[in-house]
Amino acid sequence: MTNSPLHEVQNGLENVVVAETEISDVQGAKGLLVIRGYGVEELAELSPFASTTSLLWRGVLPSRTDEEALSRALGLARERLSPGVVRLAEATRLPASPLEFQRAALATLEHENPVDVTALMTVAAAIWYRSQARMPLVTPDARLDHAADFLRMLAGERPAPAAAQALDRYLTTVSDHGMNASTFATRVVASTGSDLISAVAAGLGALKGPLHGGAPGPVLDMLDAIGTPERAAVWIEDQLAKGERIMGMGHRIYKVRDPRAAVLEKALEELERSGTRSPRLDLARAVERVAASSLKRKYPGRELHANVEFYTAVLLDVLGIPRELFTATFAAGRVLGWCAHFSEQKATGRLIRPDSRYVGKAPL
Ligand code: COA
Repeated sequence: MTNSPLHEVQNGLENVVVAETEISDVQGAKGLLVIRGYGVEELAELSPFASTTSLLWRGVLPSRTDEEALSRALGLARERLSPGVVRLAEATRLPASPLEFQRAALATLEHENPVDVTALMTVAAAIWYRSQARMPLVTPDARLDHAADFLRMLAGERPAPAAAQALDRYLTTVSDHGMNASTFATRVVASTGSDLISAVAAGLGALKGPLHGGAPGPVLDMLDAIGTPERAAVWIEDQLAKGERIMGMGHRIYKVRDPRAAVLEKALEELERSGTRSPRLDLARAVERVAASSLKRKYPGRELHANVEFYTAVLLDVLGIPRELFTATFAAGRVLGWCAHFSEQKATGRLIRPDSRYVGKAPL
């Protein structure tokens, strides 16, 4: 075994560049997220989900006609795929996690295509939710946009336009984010020459973990446990004293506040202007302030600020999405990035195969 710098272990692969990409760029020190040349703030304002789909997969924002065609294709795919997923829900014991159901539902796909994979994420999440709650299932409606139909499949009624727009913004905001863990997992599978469905299954597996996509449910639990802004300081200090992590705070790359937190906070303000006020928004803001200053005291020199999950929790909650579906909803947005990275990685034709340093027993 050599001791060359090449064999230094990079725990967590920090600062290791594994690919060139044209899909997105995360600049942690500046708090910037650029998706195919657009800042996330601008993209969330101007690009509905179908338009973001085109941007990520084809590299350009579509014409109005192309956007409508893509929205329609997603809708028709939701309608076409729904019966197979319903049969799956009836035939198997529902898993405890909706992400496991989304993963299982991938097996119902007959063709490997990004539109079907994307449509399936919302269909499977809604069917999982209503099946386990023993509520009648709601058939998809291809005439609606993806976000609006997801809310309809969950609640059983057409959402207010402002609610559909807020979810649409959320899905665009989380559609891609550099070489995050689930995207890397997807690219590793793509690099072996495997298929899109297997790669998306790997992405779902990685997203499920609480250090990646599993935090927003616990953020809401934390806000509930704190209850009022005055109790935030005691609760946060107590958690930190016990060595617990504060969910929704900190990020591997961002050393300032995650720009997506601001986009989602703005979406909440817009919802408020349209008459839907989140009962938890003021509390969330107070808890964020307290948590940031407690973390600063505990880890001077480290920059631990609110990440995307913090306001995801508040936004999805006010849209009526149950907390057990928060990560599955994240997957419904991030699947766009997984599909884009799958194609980009395949085009390189290069197997991802890093090295490890053996520290076990030597042979006798
Ligand atoms: N609460 C308490 N302590 C935290 C923390 C948090 N939210 N985030 C980081 N830290 C602490 C770690 O415990 C660690 O302390 P140690 O050196 O004493 O072990 C130190 O800060 C490491 O920070 P850093 O290297 O910046 O974190 P990371 O890159 O390993 O982890 C996260 C990044 C996101 C996994 C981490 O910040 C975290 O667990 N956050 C909460 C979960 C979450 O919100 N996940 C969603 C991410 S989008």
